[in-house]
Amino acid sequence: PSLGDLEICFNTLVGVTAAGDIDFIHKNYRPEEHDYQTAVQFFINNRKNRHFDYVDYSQDPTKFFMPGFIDTHIHASQFPNIGIGLDCPLLDWLNDYTFPLENKFTDSNDEKLKFAKNVYSKVIQKTLTNGTTCASYFTTIDPHTTNLFAELLLEIGQRGFVGKVCMDHNDTYHDYEESFEDCVDSMNKIIERMAQLNPAEETLVKPIITPRFAPVCSRKMLKWLGKLSVTQDLPIQTHISENKKEIELVHDMFPDCEDYATVYDKHNLLNSQTILAHAIHLTKKERKMIREKKCSISHCPTSNTFISSGEAPIKQYLYNDKINVSLGTDVSGGFDSSILGIIKHCILVSHHLAMKTGRQGDKLTIIDAIYMATQGGAKAVGMPDKLGSFELGKKFDVQLIDLDSKESNVDTFEWQLPTQHEGDHKKRTKKMEDLLGKWIFSGDDRNCVKVWCNGRLVINKMHYSRDDRWV
Ligand code: GUN
Ligand code: FE
Repeated sequence: PSLGDLEICFNTLVGVTAAGDIDFIHKNYRPEEHDYQTAVQFFINNRKNRHFDYVDYSQDPTKFFMPGFIDTHIHASQFPNIGIGLDCPLLDWLNDYTFPLENKFTDSNDEKLKFAKNVYSKVIQKTLTNGTTCASYFTTIDPHTTNLFAELLLEIGQRGFVGKVCMDHNDTYHDYEESFEDCVDSMNKIIERMAQLNPAEETLVKPIITPRFAPVCSRKMLKWLGKLSVTQDLPIQTHISENKKEIELVHDMFPDCEDYATVYDKHNLLNSQTILAHAIHLTKKERKMIREKKCSISHCPTSNTFISSGEAPIKQYLYNDKINVSLGTDVSGGFDSSILGIIKHCILVSHHLAMKTGRQGDKLTIIDAIYMATQGGAKAVGMPDKLGSFELGKKFDVQLIDLDSKESNVDTFEWQLPTQHEGDHKKRTKKMEDLLGKWIFSGDDRNCVKVWCNGRLVINKMHYSRDDRWV
């Protein structure tokens, strides 16, 4: 429910409307005191004319519901480059691997469209199957394939923020850039198309204003994008302070700005709807500005390790600076498209940081990491009242975890939840926390057996056999 707090609800009955909203929550519902079927009948009777689907996993403690993960920084177009470019620092990595790949999306002939459709379908499917129900995406500079990506999100059923990458001067790789005028034209195209795409009263896909990062953006474009965010009430995402050479480059290009954050602030790009990816090497002043402007950080530990950018002091950002922090896979700087993987990596990276600094306080806990993957993400994407936890009125964006699923890597040998009779709530909670550790450090997509987005079942790996067992 809040930073540092994990609430585990046992025997809880959750109702969801056909529109995908959480309608009622009954905690500590006791099977020995109530008959489920009677309860279901009660709810049906009290909600006439409602369609009723009924799922019950209460009898098996190795199955539990988790809020869907929110990935606040991922490059959909870079999916084919996963695993490529190890030990290339950021600026070389962009020139040698990333810009050439993204450039493949810019021709709108049939072959390129087919390529885009293939890559984009795969990335949505792959993240959904890992429990990501909402993500903030970067595509490429191309508006046509960006709109195609938004259509695929709706079709496959993932909530998404879609960022056409804006970059109007690429000094090191001229083949991949747009003119300022093209950028304006493309942004108008995607804003218009996404407004048409959404079903009535729902915003499942939304454009997000995406200046790639300061070194490839003119002041004119940054200023225009800042203004666009206000006039169209659109969120913003970009990169900041990922790599030391990048920071030097920004200092050289914007000598009138005291630091990296000031470059964005000067162009009205820092507000409560801004997601700043990486944010590894921030100064005290920058942290203060980010806190005051209520921006969120997307922490990308896998990418920061893979392209050796550094270890962000996340525990300090969260608890001392009181900055909202969420998690990002940053595919393909990051090689893991699963937020469960990023949870694992952020904890490991924080332990390395703690060993380096000698400060125990730099270590992130499982609870911190789960918070960033859910509630922190919900805040970052501007939907704290709709996503990130089980609460009345929130959307049913949920994953069902089964630690004993088919081919599961998780060993639950001799693990048993105390029954309500023998154990108090505290004991049960402690056991459940142990189980979360097992899930995080040895689980994977095989344990994510069902996923709902906006109340719609979009992933189902479970089959019910004739002898009444889940297999
Ligand atoms: N900075 C600017 N562009 C990128 C990108 O595509 N990936 C990462 N990790 N950093 C960037
Ligand atoms: Fe990135």
